This record gives sequence, C-alpha cells and structure tokens, in this order.
Amino acid sequence: MSIDLPHRPRRLRCTSAIRSLVRETRITADDLIYPLFVHDRAEDDEIASMPGVVRFSLDSLVRECEAAYGAGISAVALFPSISASLKDECGTHGLAESNILHRAVQRVKAEVPELAVITDVALDPYTTHGHDGLLSADGTDVANDATVEILSRLAVAQARAGADIVAPSDMMDGRVGAIRTALDQAGFEKTLILSYAAKYASAFYGPFRDAVGSKIGKDAVSKATYQMDPANVNEAVREIALDEAEGADIVMVKPAGTYLDVIRAVKESTRLPVAAYQVSGEYAQIHAAARLGWLDYESTRDEALLAIKRAGADMILTYFAREVAEGIGEKAEKRKD
Ligand code: PBG
Repeated sequence: MSIDLPHRPRRLRCTSAIRSLVRETRITADDLIYPLFVHDRAEDDEIASMPGVVRFSLDSLVRECEAAYGAGISAVALFPSISASLKDECGTHGLAESNILHRAVQRVKAEVPELAVITDVALDPYTTHGHDGLLSADGTDVANDATVEILSRLAVAQARAGADIVAPSDMMDGRVGAIRTALDQAGFEKTLILSYAAKYASAFYGPFRDAVGSKIGKDAVSKATYQMDPANVNEAVREIALDEAEGADIVMVKPAGTYLDVIRAVKESTRLPVAAYQVSGEYAQIHAAARLGWLDYESTRDEALLAIKRAGADMILTYFAREVAEGIGEKAEKRKD
C-alpha cells in the first residue's frame, strides 16, 4: 500500500544509470592541473609527508609528464627543490638561466610540447629564510615593492625558458600589473598570468614546505603579513578584483577544501576562469586517514575534488591529478568489456 506522494526525489537516485543522468557536477581530466616537484639530482626522492609524491630528477619528470599527458591532463605546475648551498637572502638563484626550474621547463616543452607548463613566481624555493620575497633592510618585514621588481624579472626568466603560464604565488600588492608590463615589454604578451589572488596564510601548506625545504623559523617574520587571514572572505573578493584589473588571466583560491565558500564567492564576483589549489595538507590528510583505515581512500579523494568543482572551481591543482585522470580513463574502458 503506497501513500499518495507526487514528489519522490528518490526516483532520481534509484539506479546508477539514472544517477549519472542527473549528476550536476563531474570531474574530468580537463579540470585537473598536476603540481610536480623537480630537483637537480639523478635519483627521485620520496617526500614522507606526501605519500606517492616525489621530487623528480629531470628524466623522471619528463616521463611523469608524458604519462600525465597520456592520461588526459593538459597542464602541470612545476616547483623546484633547490639545494641549500644555492640559496641566499635574496633568492638570486631564481634568476639563473640554467637553474633546475628553467631546465625542467625547457625539457618538458621540448618533449611534451602540447602540455601547458605553469611556473611559480615566488622566491621561497631560493631564499635561505623561506619567504616568498625580499626582507626589508631591518629584517622585520617582507618588502613589497622591491619584491615586485624581482618577481617581474623572475616571471620574464620563466617565460623565456618556455613557461606558458606564470603563476605569482607571493601575495605582494601590485605584482600582477608589474609582471604583465614586464612580460609585454620582453615580448611575451602571449604568456598567461594565473594569479594566486586569494592565497591564505594556511597551516595546510606544511608538507609542501617539507617538499621544497622552505620551512619558516618560529620567530621569523610571519607569512600572515602577506598571505590572507583565513577568517576573511570579502577581502578575497577584493583581491580578485584588483588582480583582474591588473591583468590576471585566471584567478586562484588556495587552499581549496577548507575555502569552498570563498571559491563560490569568487566565482560569483568575476567572469575570469577560477582555479583552486587542493594543497599538500589536504592531500596528506586523506592519505593519513586512509593508511589508518579510518577513511576509504578513493571515495574520499573523489568526494573532496567534486566538492571543489561544485563550489565553482573551473580547474583544480591537485597532487591526485594523474591517478584520478587514469581512473576516469579505466572506467570508460571497462564498459567496453
Ligand atoms: C610558495 C608556495 C606554497 C605553496 C605553493 N607555492 C607554500 C607557501 O606559501 O609557503 C603551497 C602548496 C601546497 O601546500 O601544496 N610560493
């Protein structure tokens, strides 16, 4: 005996086929950007706090890029890990023409030319203090305008090496406009700027700082003097508007999973494409809980990515990119059997 009930939302959930017809959001390989670490050594190095992520040698980096491209990924974001002996207070090595990042960009563009390469415009891999910029003369602050000048040169050096997209992740004021001018003057008017426009001073970057060796000392200047306060969302919308006015092509919110409301607010405030960065700590959390047997690895991973897309991200930087793209391909293959 059934009750008189015209609306039964469960009808739309009754089989896998119906559920797939009405699904509002899906992750495809096109959505994913794959962050990769590279170092100037012959061996790959595991990163303890990021299971499955390594610092690649140049050769393995190229192989990883080929595999990722084969799985349907369109873009990688490269991050160098620089040996301590090459770091200084000013991050001078960042500009060296043959540093490992520039060589990595050249190799990847030579061997997987269709793959878009994104580089990080910030000084933290190259500075002894681990800050994204230059310290002020008295060492009590990160100097905005001097940093903007050196970052503009860094962006041009990366574009010259072949980067398709430069991504300032430093959060200095005015850097997008300065980088756009510098790129244009150097003849790189086609190089895109993906701005880390709303980047928060987050504890979720811990494993990344292990990976590139950019841990900040306890009594050093705080990154909170340039990265955003996790409590704020209006400020994110303001940052996005400024970067858009300065000429950003794509704007980013970072981290992603703990900032879904920010992604949504940003998406509603701009017509630019919006990226979100599922950062190292978000990746590590899922791995750690799965290792303990407390969460199911694949379904937790997929749900976390889906939530970021549903919130409004047009593209997602994620360390899961390759395996997720491969999983999507395998699922399609299985149907044919
Ligand atoms: C620094 C940079 C950071 C990340 C990307 N670029 C760390 C920081 O700001 O200290 C973090 C990425 C991650 O945690 O996965 N320019």
